[in-house]
Amino acid sequence: MRWKAKNSVAVVTGASSGIGKCLTQQLADHDCHVIAVARRADRINQWNASSKLREFGGVTPVAGDITDAKVRSMIRSTIETDHGGKLDLLVNNAGIGGIGRFTQATPDRLRQIMEVNFFAPVELTRILLPSLQRGSAPVICNVSSVLGHRAVPEKSEYCASKFAMHGWSDSLRAELAADGIQVTLVSPSTTKSEFFDSLIETDPDQQSRSLGHWSPQRVANKAFDAICKRRSEVILSLGGKALVYLDRLAPFLMNKILAQRPAKPTDLPNSGDR
Ligand SMILES: NC(=O)c1ccc[n+]([C@@H]2O[C@H](COP(=O)([O-])OP(=O)(O)OC[C@H]3O[C@@H](n4cnc5c(N)ncnc54)[C@H](OP(=O)(O)O)[C@@H]3O)[C@@H](O)[C@H]2O)c1
Repeated sequence: MRWKAKNSVAVVTGASSGIGKCLTQQLADHDCHVIAVARRADRINQWNASSKLREFGGVTPVAGDITDAKVRSMIRSTIETDHGGKLDLLVNNAGIGGIGRFTQATPDRLRQIMEVNFFAPVELTRILLPSLQRGSAPVICNVSSVLGHRAVPEKSEYCASKFAMHGWSDSLRAELAADGIQVTLVSPSTTKSEFFDSLIETDPDQQSRSLGHWSPQRVANKAFDAICKRRSEVILSLGGKALVYLDRLAPFLMNKILAQRPAKPTDLPNSGDR
C-alpha cells in the first residue's frame, strides 16, 4: 500500500526553512493540504502567497513554538475545524542543534535541544494520534539524523535527542502496526540549510565537520519518496550509510577514529547551578 499525497492532509513542523519548507512545497505541489508550523510563519505566508493556488492542495500556516502545548492544541483544532479531524501525514521535522563539548556546556543546551527535538514531537504525535487513526494509509515521518544511529563528539546533546527519536520511532512503529499507521524514520547527513545559523550556545568559530552536504531539496525529495512508499527507515547519503554500517560492523574501530585528544585544563565541567 502506498501513501497518496493527492487530497491528503499533512502537518509539517519546521516549515519556514530548509528541509521542512521544501517538503511542504512538494506536498502542496502534489495536491496535499499542508498545515505548516513554524515560529516564523510570516515566511510561510510569503512563499505561499506567490505560489500557484490549487483546487485542494494548499498551505495553512500555524505560527508558534512546538514546545508550547497551546500551539500543539492549535494544530489539532485546525485539523478538527478544517479537515473533520482527519490527518494522513505528520512530519516531525523542526529541530535545533548545538556544537561543543558536553563538559563545557550548560544544562540549558541539553534541555532546549531535547525539548524541541524530542519532547515536542512526541507530545504533538500523542495529541494527533486520534486524527491519524482516521487517516488514509497514515504515516508519521520523523526527521532524525545519521547522528541518531552513530554519535560523534561535540554534539552529545543533539545525538542524544536523535537517538531518543530513533528509539521512540522503532517502538511506536511496532505499537501502531496493528492500527495501520506507519512510522518512517528519515536520517539525513549534513544538509546546507539555516540549521548551522541558529546553533544554540555555540562558539561562532566552531565548525561542524563533514565530508560534503546535500541540499534541503534533495533531502525533501528522498523523504517524500520514503513517505509515499511507507518505508520504515531511510539513511540518505552514502557517507551516512558508511558511518552507520561501519559502526555496526566494527564499533571499536569507529570509537578509535572518533576519540578526541585529552581534555585541556580549561575543559572544566560546568556545575549546572545557573
Ligand atoms: N542541516 C543538517 O545538516 C541536518 C542533518 C541531519 C538532520 N537534520 C534535521 O533536519 C531537520 C530540519 O533541519 P534543517 O536542516 O531544515 O534546518 P533549518 O533550516 O534550520 O530548519 C529548522 C526548522 O525548524 C523550525 N523550528 C526550530 N525550532 C522550532 C520551534 N521551537 N518551534 C517550531 N519550529 C521550530 C524552524 O522554524 P522557525 O525558526 O521559524 O520556528 C525551521 O523551520 C531537523 O530536525 C534537523 O535536526 C538536519
